[in-house]
Amino acid sequence: LPAVTKALAQWVFSHPYNTKRPEVTVVKYLQPFQLSPETLQEVSARLRKDLLRGLGKHSHHKAPVKMLPTFVRATPDGTEKGDFLALDLGGTNFRVLHVRVEEEAQKVLKMDSQICAIPQEMMLGTGEQLFDHIATCLGDFLESHNLKGQTLPLGFTFSFPCEQLEIDKSILIRWTKGFNCSGVEGKDVVQLLKEAIHRRGDYHIGSVAMVNDTVGTMMSCGYKDQSCEIGMIIGTGTNACYMEEIKNVKRIEGEDGRMCINTEWGGFGDDGCLDDILTEFDVEVDKTSINPGVHIFEKMISGMYLGEIVRLVLVKMTKDKLLFKGQISEALGTRGLFETKFISEIEDGLENAKKILTELGLDWSLVDASVVRLVCDTISSRSAYLCAAALATLVNRIRNNRKLGHLKTTVGVDGTVYRKHPTFSSKLQKAVRLLAPQCDITFLVSEDGSGKGAAMVTAVAYFCASILIQWMV
Ligand code: GLC
Repeated sequence: LPAVTKALAQWVFSHPYNTKRPEVTVVKYLQPFQLSPETLQEVSARLRKDLLRGLGKHSHHKAPVKMLPTFVRATPDGTEKGDFLALDLGGTNFRVLHVRVEEEAQKVLKMDSQICAIPQEMMLGTGEQLFDHIATCLGDFLESHNLKGQTLPLGFTFSFPCEQLEIDKSILIRWTKGFNCSGVEGKDVVQLLKEAIHRRGDYHIGSVAMVNDTVGTMMSCGYKDQSCEIGMIIGTGTNACYMEEIKNVKRIEGEDGRMCINTEWGGFGDDGCLDDILTEFDVEVDKTSINPGVHIFEKMISGMYLGEIVRLVLVKMTKDKLLFKGQISEALGTRGLFETKFISEIEDGLENAKKILTELGLDWSLVDASVVRLVCDTISSRSAYLCAAALATLVNRIRNNRKLGHLKTTVGVDGTVYRKHPTFSSKLQKAVRLLAPQCDITFLVSEDGSGKGAAMVTAVAYFCASILIQWMV
């Protein structure tokens, strides 16, 4: 352990800035974001306990980390091929896809796809409006691709916490990220979709399989690498699923085999157990969000919130006359205008930083620009290290479940933060190696998990589970 701690300390606290330069005066603003290796180990230990609470029959009800059964199991049966529709709702856009699964070649082909924007008002409007919009997009897609006469099975990637009663019965527990439509929480999402399609009456859909994006990601990566048994998303939101022993899922009957569990780790901390590591900026981001008190861990990590955390730190430093000659531009003073993608761009190079600061209407000096880079680096690094702590908890759990001295496994990953940030993935991987030294993890970026992965789950649900077996066993 001391060796691990020492190595962690070296990278957690090292950054490319010379301590003799003026930006050291800003270090006190950033220190609360710098989590020591011991703290990360403590975060992992707390999550380990919360996983158990989520899995427990009686503790589940109040557990902040929901540990939702997905009914995706590694059990053999049948063969599958055919055409499927996939819907993907969860980030900023809604997508419809037509996917073909070819049994012989074990191939998943994306035939066509279409993106429909979801206007902000609709994300906060009524459920009926949202599902009518979804049914319209799907109808337009079927019309333009001459598919209206067919009744295709449909995989619905719905990336929100759902209590899945069956593969086609999925009750929304609560909205997360940017959505808060009325009249959907506590309802069966499949039913709401079917009702909206019925209101139109001009087309039919076949059987429906509900899929969380983490599960789609695990499945689409499992196609390439059979040892993929974790799916992780670090995008607008953050979450992971993994294969758990059924005997440990106390709410499910049965002893044998494994089931994929959607952890909903974004909810970690909702009971206050992370309050000691929250900064004043995290508290502010939560308070001004559309769902205060909900998904505290996610709000420290994911793309929906990172830009806003950086903005709040920059505003405070400017008010304290440390940046931009004390002048806050209108853009910097406006909530949501410092986008998370700016963090990736700014960290990618000083020239990008200068360009973005100019576009934000700021009167910057070279020192300002490098301090802004330091702020971005600190906040994105914290995000990567917290994810690493959470992922380490999962791989350590899988290893203990199987009583293995050493675990070799693969994690399917997706999400814009992981994909687009210049150093996020390498920081995360390095940190997991140190926090879970007995696990050898391969990271595989998923190829359209929410589309192809959803079609795969549907194929499996539709024709039973032989694909799963080919991948998972
Ligand atoms: C949010 C959702 C979760 C999803 C994640 C990534 O945390 O609650 O279901 O997997 O975002 O999209």
